[in-house]
Amino acid sequence: MFDQSFIWGAATASYQIEGGAYDDGKGLSVWDMFTKVEGKVYNMDHGDVACDSYHKLEEDVAILKELGVKAYRFSISWPRVLPNGIGEVNAKGLDYYSRFVDALLEAGIEPYVTLFHWDYPYELYKKGQWLNDASSDWFAEYTKVMVDCLGDRVKHWMTLNEPQCFIGLGYFSGVHAPGHHYSAFDIIRMTHNTLLAHGKSLKVIKDARPEASVGFAFVANAVVPKSLEQADVDAARDFMFNRYEKTENKDDYDFTFDNDYWYDPIMLGKYPDWVTKMYRDYLPEEEQLRKDFELISQKVDFIGLNLYQGPVVEADGPYVKVSKQKPGQPFTALNWLVSEGIMYWGTKFMYERYQTPIYITENGLSNKDWVSLDGKVHDEGRIDFLDRYLRQLDKSYQEGNDIRGYFQWSLLDNFEWAEGYKERFGLVHVDFETGKRTPKESYYWYKNLIASKN
Ligand code: NOJ
Repeated sequence: MFDQSFIWGAATASYQIEGGAYDDGKGLSVWDMFTKVEGKVYNMDHGDVACDSYHKLEEDVAILKELGVKAYRFSISWPRVLPNGIGEVNAKGLDYYSRFVDALLEAGIEPYVTLFHWDYPYELYKKGQWLNDASSDWFAEYTKVMVDCLGDRVKHWMTLNEPQCFIGLGYFSGVHAPGHHYSAFDIIRMTHNTLLAHGKSLKVIKDARPEASVGFAFVANAVVPKSLEQADVDAARDFMFNRYEKTENKDDYDFTFDNDYWYDPIMLGKYPDWVTKMYRDYLPEEEQLRKDFELISQKVDFIGLNLYQGPVVEADGPYVKVSKQKPGQPFTALNWLVSEGIMYWGTKFMYERYQTPIYITENGLSNKDWVSLDGKVHDEGRIDFLDRYLRQLDKSYQEGNDIRGYFQWSLLDNFEWAEGYKERFGLVHVDFETGKRTPKESYYWYKNLIASKN
């Protein structure tokens, strides 16, 4: 089983929990705007108050301490510290994060900071966001502000969370803020700027704090081979890293979630061949591209995988066959497949390809939870889900894949983007009218598990 050095943690993100959307000089984000447009988010829910964590710093840290986690992954709201995204710094915003980090360290909890988890400054959105070729410099400037403020205490940084979503869902399918349907050509250009932003940000952190550990947290689109036959295992691996070539019908092909598309540029220093073949004209000229890749593919200290669900894959001649659901396979409240095998296969394939330490930066279950008449939250489904997923992770760990830690998503029930407050991912139940926190049974289960490993 996981040894004592394994990092047990929990994760959240600023817009999903903080609230205080208009407090103390915070600027607006694209999510502040998007949530106010009718028809975009379930029930017109928004993050103006959310879990009110901005005003409940001590309470949240006490909940984490009681849980016994060694680490907490949270994100910084970029417009809270730079209301215009660049330029003027909001001292009160910075002070909040500084106090928060102090409180965590005081409680013996290591902060793992995500610099960008989707609440993009609205003022920069108006300037052309990731389509603007200056956007990577904007992100580097913001990084510098944060590293100057927290770098003496924060040792672990993630640059970007799930660009698959903030680019793919935000600008391609349009279901997330800011809700656009841009062309594939624009997406290519935005992706390049996004990757460059990661690279410049990493450099800013390393220049200031060479000892810091820096990575990213991306969606890991993992799959499970149908059988242990070599052909099926190869098909699963191919599907994870070469979905484009392995897909027979490419009508309406959406590449915005492909692993090779996002991970290879950073980890292998190149775009997949199918990208350069089809979209060469939308990428910078040769010499510039080479220079950009020097930044993009600097060594990361870890890769962060957000792992939730994945289909079963089998060999099918030159292609692969994907089965979305086995008959009767259970779904979560979000209609995501309970597919614990991805923890084993996903981490194994990722480590095999990139040979870089892994953190599970997110994994968890949305469940229909409520506080029962006895005052407790009986979320047995979540306990079983975590148990199943962690057993598979342990199997991969035991085989020697370098997995450093696990961050459960999420500490608190929170604002689940387009799904609003309908989905509950927390170990702790939140009453969104009163802000009251009630630890669920899964909280105590996870607490015991962590205690038993230390
Ligand atoms: C991924 C995202 O990073 C997080 O913000 C979201 O709440 C969870 N997955 C669950 O959908």
